[in-house]
Amino acid sequence: MSKIVSEKMTPAILGGKPIRKKPFSVTWPVIGLEERRNLLKVFGSGKWWYGEKVAEFEKKYAAFQNAGYGVSCTNGTAALEIALLACGIGAGDEVIVPPYTFMATASAVLKVNAVPVFADIDLNTGNLDQKAAEKAITSKTRAIMPVHMAGLPVDMDAFKALARKHKLRLIEDACHSWGSQWKGKGTGAIGDCGVFSFQMSKNITAGEGGILLTDNEEIADAARSYTNCGRGKGKAWYEHYLLGSNLRMTELQSAILLGQLTRLKAQTLRRERNAAIITRGLKGIPGVALMQRDRRVTRRSYHMYMFRFVTEAWPGVSRETFLKALNAEGIPASAGYPIPLYMNPLFQRKGNGPRHCPLSCPYYGKTMDYTRVSCPNTEQVCREACWIRHSVLLNESGDMRDIVEAITKLWEQRESLRHV
Ligand SMILES: Cc1ncc(COP(=O)(O)O)c(C=O)c1O
Repeated sequence: MSKIVSEKMTPAILGGKPIRKKPFSVTWPVIGLEERRNLLKVFGSGKWWYGEKVAEFEKKYAAFQNAGYGVSCTNGTAALEIALLACGIGAGDEVIVPPYTFMATASAVLKVNAVPVFADIDLNTGNLDQKAAEKAITSKTRAIMPVHMAGLPVDMDAFKALARKHKLRLIEDACHSWGSQWKGKGTGAIGDCGVFSFQMSKNITAGEGGILLTDNEEIADAARSYTNCGRGKGKAWYEHYLLGSNLRMTELQSAILLGQLTRLKAQTLRRERNAAIITRGLKGIPGVALMQRDRRVTRRSYHMYMFRFVTEAWPGVSRETFLKALNAEGIPASAGYPIPLYMNPLFQRKGNGPRHCPLSCPYYGKTMDYTRVSCPNTEQVCREACWIRHSVLLNESGDMRDIVEAITKLWEQRESLRHV
């Protein structure tokens, strides 16, 4: 074998030539003239507080997701808490959540004095499994809160039917799914309501921010009140009807988000096209398991491109070695959530977690012991997931072929990776 051929085939981590020498050129956030113009306008107006721009953003974002109402707030975590409160979830109620997600999905439930009940995910999608969710239903269950993980919509037909059958609220944690559609309707208002995050890493961002979407006017009004100090719709300023808080979005955040929104559709479609190139390229490789997309998903946001490192197909090679080797080829990828949420010290009672309501509260009348929870699919995905972040998918199609080439190279040279 010539030296050049051998250098090309040798993994970069073992001294070979990397597939990519230059970084991906699109980095996050992408900003443009729209944000600058909007920001300067708001800045100069002297009205920085909960006004025109907030209302404009709420209306435009709700329309973008085909929802009737949008209520903005400070962040996705607050939006989850508001969604639960606005749906009437409270002390002693159980809410079914997946354990493969960001902490806020479960901590929001505790924050409203309700009890998160973890049900396992589907290995093929990374999403809450509806059969596992149904099994977790008890007489205390009041809501199901699936996450559209990485932007891939859960089976909303199945979850709606389940919620209807058991008279439960269905709240979508849509904090990864800006622009995703299920049968042509945007995620977020297919269930009773849904929430989005606009934190820095998200596909549309103002550094921080959140919104609740719904088609239900009562939920929208309650959410507005909870975010605005408990005020009543059309009521006097110093009258307070609900135990709300000040969780209002600012005009400055909305000015940025309105700019970001002008690009969101095109960026979503670009990520989708680029992800399809990666999917086509990786399809035949037994060492990687791709997430499966339901035909009823008519558009999907990619908060990340996620696949599983199939451990048994790479004898002697760990996921961590694979990721290091992929990084050495010039492809940024990471491992994602390291543990299921229930393994966090908060739930395992190893730290200074809550020893009060709701977990040992008379309203609950039961005891919840998270040390006994076991969700094998989630534990496997935590061990095997590989994430490529969304900004990478905004690059050129040729850049996607580099990703495919790098993973293919590592697969073909997997024997040599045993010596890393
Ligand atoms: C699935 C999910 N839910 C909720 C949140 C909370 O959003 P925020 O960071 O805006 O509070 C996040 C943020 O990472 C998330 O990924």
